[in-house]
Amino acid sequence: MSLKVELNKNFKPSINNFKKNIDLEIEEIGLFHSKIGNQETPLIELPELAKNLGIKKLLIKDESYRFGLHAFKALGASYAMSKQINENPEIEIFCTATDGNHGKAVAWMATKLNKRAIIYMPKGTVAARIDSIKKEGADVIVIDKAYDIAVEMAKKRVSFENQQSGLKKWCLIQDTAWKGYEEIPLDIMKGYWTQIHEVTKQILDKKIDLVILQSGVGSWAASIVDYIITQWEKAPFFISVEPHSANCLFESIKRGKRISIQNNKSTNMAGLDCGSVSTLAWNILSENLAGSISISDSLCEKSMITLANPLIGDPMIVSGESGASGLAALIGLSKNDDFKKFKQNINLNETSTVLIFNTEGATDPVNYKKVTNT
Ligand SMILES: Cc1ncc(COP(=O)(O)O)c(C=O)c1O
Repeated sequence: MSLKVELNKNFKPSINNFKKNIDLEIEEIGLFHSKIGNQETPLIELPELAKNLGIKKLLIKDESYRFGLHAFKALGASYAMSKQINENPEIEIFCTATDGNHGKAVAWMATKLNKRAIIYMPKGTVAARIDSIKKEGADVIVIDKAYDIAVEMAKKRVSFENQQSGLKKWCLIQDTAWKGYEEIPLDIMKGYWTQIHEVTKQILDKKIDLVILQSGVGSWAASIVDYIITQWEKAPFFISVEPHSANCLFESIKRGKRISIQNNKSTNMAGLDCGSVSTLAWNILSENLAGSISISDSLCEKSMITLANPLIGDPMIVSGESGASGLAALIGLSKNDDFKKFKQNINLNETSTVLIFNTEGATDPVNYKKVTNT
C-alpha cells in the first residue's frame, strides 16, 4: 500500500500557550546562525497545487538553499558543535554517524572551526552523498550495516579514542538522543528552532491548521513541534511521515510506546532511514502528534515529480527524496478516499492551510534526475 495511517491514541491537543519562555535562547541561536552566514530560506505558496489537492492553502518552507548545503541540517550541528568547543577547547575531532545530510553539516562546520571530522555511514549509501561529505573535508567510513549500527560504531570509536589518550579530543555529535546522551542532541534540536522562527515571521496571516513533519530519528520534527506549542497562540495539528521500511515512529505511535524496528530494506528517503526514535524526540512527539503516516518510495517519487513540474502558476521547487516526503503524505491523503476518518481527525479539508517542509534539495543528483526526468 502506498500510504498507511495511524491516529495517535495518546494525543493530547496542546492548549498551550507560551508555556515556556525561550525567547532569549531563540534570539541567541538566531544570532549565532547569522554570524556563520545563515540566510533566511523562502516560504513558498503553491496556490494551484493547493486547489488540486482540495485544500485552501499550501505553504512550503524550502530548505534546498540552506547554507548552500541543500538541507536544513547544519542549523543543528553548527550550534551544538560551537557549544561543545566553547565548553571544551581541547576538541580536535568531531565524529558522527549519518545517512548524509547531518554528516555533511558536521564536516562543513568542523572545517569552519579548523577541526577534523570522521563520519560513519550505513551500507547502501550512494556515492554522491559520500563524495559531498568528503568534499567538505571529512574522512568517511562506510560500514556494511544499517544506520543504527553506524551510530553505535561512532559512539564506540569516540569513547575508545578518548579512553586511549586519557584526553577528550574526540567529540560525538549525534543528532539522536538515548539515556545518558542528551546534551548534544538537545542543542542540535534547539539549533533547528531558527528554521521555524523564520517561518513564524514569514507566515503573514498566522493561520496554519496542519503541519506535516518527516521523521528519521524524530529530532527535527520534535524541535518544530516544541517551538510551535510554546510560541504560537494556537497550535495546529501535527502529523509525522516516514518510509514504510523505516517507520519506527509510526510503529511506536501505533503501540503507544517507543520501539525500534529492523530497517533492513532500503528506501530512497535516505535521511529518514532510521530504526529508532530519539528518546528526547519521543518525549515531545508521543503526545503532540495527532497521527502518524508511512509511505512508499513510489509515492515519494510522485511528490518529487510534482514539485519539479509545477502546475501553471506555481513555482518549481527542487526537492530530494526525504525533502519531498511531507508533500507525498499530503498527496496520498488527498487523492485517496480510504482515509476519511483520519482526515476528519486532523481537520484536513477544503478550509485547511497546510505547512510542509522541503527539508532537502537534490542531495542525490543522480536519482533526482532519474526520478524527475530533468
Ligand atoms: C532531508 C532530511 N529531512 C528530514 C530528516 C529527519 O530528521 P530527523 O532524523 O531529526 O528526524 C533528515 C535527517 O537526516 C534529513 O536529512
